[in-house]
Order: sequence, then C-alpha cells, then structure tokens
Amino acid sequence: MCGIVAYVGDLVAGPILFDTLKRLEYRGYDSAGVALKSEGAIVVLKSAGRIADLEKVYQSRGCPGEGMGIGHTRWATHGRPSDRNAHPHTSGEIAIVHNGIIENYLDLRELLTEMGYVFSSETDSEVLAHLIHFYFKGDLYAAVCRALVHVEGSYAVAVLAASSPYLVCARKDSPLVLGKGKTAIYVASDVPALLPYTKDVIRMKDGEIARVFADRVEIMDREGQPRLAQVERITWDADAAEKGGYTHFMLKEIHEQPRAIRETIAGRISEIDGDVRLKLGMSDEEIKGLERVTIIACGTSYHAGMLAKNLFARVAGLPVDVEVASEFLNIQVRPRTLLLGITQSGETADTLLALKKAKTCGGRSLAITNVVGSTVTELVDGTIYTRCGPEIGVAATKTFTSQLVAIILLAIRLGRARAHLTPDQARKMLIELTKLPGLVQRVLEKREEIRKIAERYAGASCYFFIGRDYLYPISLEGALKMKEIAYIPSEGYAGGELKHGPLALITEKTPVVALATCGKKIQSNIKEVRARGAEVIALATEGDPDIAKVASHVIELPQTQPIYSAVLCTVAVQLLSYYTANKLGLPIDKPRNLAKCVTVE
Ligand code: AGP
Repeated sequence: MCGIVAYVGDLVAGPILFDTLKRLEYRGYDSAGVALKSEGAIVVLKSAGRIADLEKVYQSRGCPGEGMGIGHTRWATHGRPSDRNAHPHTSGEIAIVHNGIIENYLDLRELLTEMGYVFSSETDSEVLAHLIHFYFKGDLYAAVCRALVHVEGSYAVAVLAASSPYLVCARKDSPLVLGKGKTAIYVASDVPALLPYTKDVIRMKDGEIARVFADRVEIMDREGQPRLAQVERITWDADAAEKGGYTHFMLKEIHEQPRAIRETIAGRISEIDGDVRLKLGMSDEEIKGLERVTIIACGTSYHAGMLAKNLFARVAGLPVDVEVASEFLNIQVRPRTLLLGITQSGETADTLLALKKAKTCGGRSLAITNVVGSTVTELVDGTIYTRCGPEIGVAATKTFTSQLVAIILLAIRLGRARAHLTPDQARKMLIELTKLPGLVQRVLEKREEIRKIAERYAGASCYFFIGRDYLYPISLEGALKMKEIAYIPSEGYAGGELKHGPLALITEKTPVVALATCGKKIQSNIKEVRARGAEVIALATEGDPDIAKVASHVIELPQTQPIYSAVLCTVAVQLLSYYTANKLGLPIDKPRNLAKCVTVE
C-alpha cells in the first residue's frame, strides 16, 4: 500500500521525511521518493528500491532542501515498480504524491496530452500533477480544488508548489492524518509515522482539502467551508500503531476487506453497459472461441480457483479444470483453452512452473495477482491485479476475497463477450457487487458474536467445515485457516460427501461449521451431524426461519446473491479461526513452519 508523508516546519524537511517514510515501511513498498523545496525551486529524488539507499543519495547531494517537503512509498498498481513510476510526480513547479486509484486517468491523460502535457510515467497519479499545474495561477489551494473536481476514484494527496508558502493535502477514500508539533505540521497516511514527532493528530475526513502551514492547518470540507480541526491524543505505542490498533496484522487485514474489495472493483465496472472493463489481451472473438479454462494455483488461491469452476460454467458457459499446481504433472492442455494462474504473491514456485509447462501447449493465459511486476505477470498475456495492498500476515485474508472479486469480474467479462450473459443479467450482478463492501462491513460488525463462539470451542481437537456449491470451496478455506493459524486439525467437506466416509469422525466433540446461506440441502447435512452429537455453528442468511431449529449457534449474515454470500461466509470463517488462535495464544501472523511466499518446489 502506498504511503504519503509531508512536513512543513522550521527544520530541514529531508531527514524528517526519510525517517517518517521508514516508519511506513511495514505497509510494504517497491519504490520511494521525496520532493523538497529548495531556494525557490523543487528538488526531486526518487527511485525503485529501498528508502535507505535513496537517503544515501540525498546525503551525498549535501542534504538539499528547506522546511517544506513531501515523500512517498509506492506499492505499484498502475505501471511496474521503476524510477520513472516512483512518486513524486511533477509538472512545472508542482510536485505531488498520491495514494489511491484515479479511475478515469486514461481519459484525463488523453485530454492533458492533447493540451500539450508530456507524460513521463505509466502511473494514474501523474495526471494529477498536470491537472493541478494547468489550474495553478498562484493559489495552490484553488488549483487543487479545481483539479480534484475532475478526478474519479480514491486519493490521499499532498501537493507542493515552489512558489507557495503552504502545502495542500486532500483525501477521498484513502487515509490521511495530520500531526501537530510545536513548530511544525506533519502529514502521513498512517499514525505510526508521526508518533516520534507528535501524539496530537487530526484525521482528515473524506472530501476535505487542507492548507498546511508550519504553525497551523486550515481544513475545508466538501463545500469549501472551514472545519474546526479536532485534535486527537494518541495513546498507543508504535508497535500497536503499525497494526492500526489491531492486535495482529491478520485482524487488521481482515478488517481492510471492504476497502480492498472497493479497490479491486474500482474503475472496472460499467453498470450502464452491464459489462466489466479488464485488460485481458484478448478480443471478444478470441473469448468466444474458448472451449475450456484451466486454472492453476496453490493453497488459498486454489480455493479461489474452485469457486471459479461453478461460476464460469454458469456465467460464461465455460467448463473449468482446477489444478493444484504441484500436481500438474502430465496434464495435456487442450487447444482453445484459457490458462488462468491465481497467485497473490505472483512468485509461488509450483504455480509458476505449472504455468510454464501448461503454456507449452499453446493458448492464451491470464494471471490474477496482487503484486505488480511479479514473475507471474511476465509469463502471461494479461493480468488482473487485485490491488489490495501488501498482506503481512502469513494467512491469506484480504488477498483471497479480492481474488474472489477478480474472478467474479472476469466471469462477467467472459460471459458478456460470449453472449452467455445478457447486459441485464450482468447489471444485476454488478449492482449487487457494488454493495459487497458494505455487506462485508456488516459481517465484521459481528466480530464479538463470532469471538464468543470461537473461544467456546477453542479446545476442540478437530473441526469440520461443510458447504455446498459456491460454499464448498469456502468450507475448504475455513478449514485451511483453522489449521494454519489455530493448529486444529480441520476438514473442509462438500455437505453431500459427509455420508460417504467422514461422518465416522463426527462425535459430540467435533464442532461443525455449516455454511448455510444458500439452499436448504445443507440442512439435511446439519441434521446428520447433529444426530451424531456434534455442535453446529451455522452461517445463515438473516431471517432464515428454519436454521435455528437445527443448529446450535446461528451467525446471521446479510442477504445477497449466492456468489457474494461466499465472500461474506469467508469473512466469518476468517474471524472464527482468528479468535480461536488468539484464545490459544498462538503466533497468528507467523504460524509455525509456514512462509508467506513459497518460492521452492
Ligand atoms: C494461505 O493462507 C496460505 N498462505 C497459502 O495457502 C497460500 O495461499 C499459497 O501458498 C499460495 O500462495 P500464492 O497465492 O502467493 O501463490
């Protein structure tokens, strides 16, 4: 996730900017940069790679700059990690740093190019620098206000102009915090960066734009009216602050899912056309000609692939094979097959090897990944980035739900190109998709209820997760989460398969999580396990009249279409395993024997 910092005060800005940028390192980054006001001009230093290396360059240049500057750590979303794509971006005497996604950047880029602006990066952010420059006639605040009117998407932005006595900051759907020091104002994406300097912070609200001077901040709301800034005293320590006040990164990342899903969707859907915009590197004719899809993935990403199996068949009329990458041995990929690699890191050795092998059979290939410029992107014809920021906890959470959303977007695109889905059907799916972040938020609000249930069964020696259809892969994912962070042997099973063997394992000591938000058939499976004495924790749709009669505990989830219900159930099972592991006092973010990215076969 990108990080922004800025400083206006009585000290030289450079060392403070580098220090605060390092304090945002935990968010993950691939490049960094600063812009400093110096003798009536702006000095920019930026590069791909480590902040510490850039700081050495700064020092070797004699630490230029005065008491005003902006800085950035970049986590690539548009354009690969490189010196050119690193922020700040400049236009004349304007320099900007930006966090977020400018959804209409292609339109703006075209317009600005026609006006004579020359672009030096592939980023969405650079349009902002030129737009502000276009409007700048000596009043930086006015220029930023006018420029932002044209911007669709999310942003936290800090803007510097060589001739302006103040900085301008603005935010919409991306965090930005101001810190009040005695003789300086600090700006950052997150509180931890500010803590060594001040514990008095002002959180900017959506739509606000601020003029930042060394001795004061003037915040204007959406209507341009001044807002009396409320100063909040931070009482957390730096470690807790890095986790945003959450006890673990995993819990933080679970809570980031509404935002992560919004980012995955951003700029990609058109409700009017009933279609999805994705750069797949394939024409509609080619998509029409497809006969199959072969999905290759590991672990949690494999579960995402399993969800795609039923979805692609229904929405795009395409049969799907889902292969565990390490078991992709002598499989022959048939002609007219689309290969799809799913890997959040983009670096999983088994997935890369299997993809390479599969590609020798020809055919088009795509990847779904979270990491721009990762190895998988080099192997395939097109990439769908999930854009959910780096995930630090070893257990995949937000990257998984964003993969599910990317798969849904892809299914709709394939379905529309193949005329298997009408615009109206697609529109209905897309309208519901836009509601998904809000629905996920409502599941997160059930955390206390889920925590109590998790703690009650934390001593279990075995867990079962059962589901059907779209919820079967989620039952596998629930069991994987319980295994990897709570170390409880867990089985994920298709509800209908229980009676074919695993029922022998069910006793009164086996809690069974039934994913029961779609269809009634699962209720007969609940009865089967209840009859063997098992306690059943049912995830059910709000207002389900029957479920309480058969389950021991019911966690009610919002009503939605079955495919989105899979995302809601995922969030609930993530919380269940998190609170179980937490009760057991386990090292949740770094479970034993596991690595975040498995780069060996
Ligand atoms: C999930 O919680 C695990 N960390 C693991 O199963 C992971 O999904 C798997 O190693 C695949 O990783 P990838 O998505 O980066 O390829």
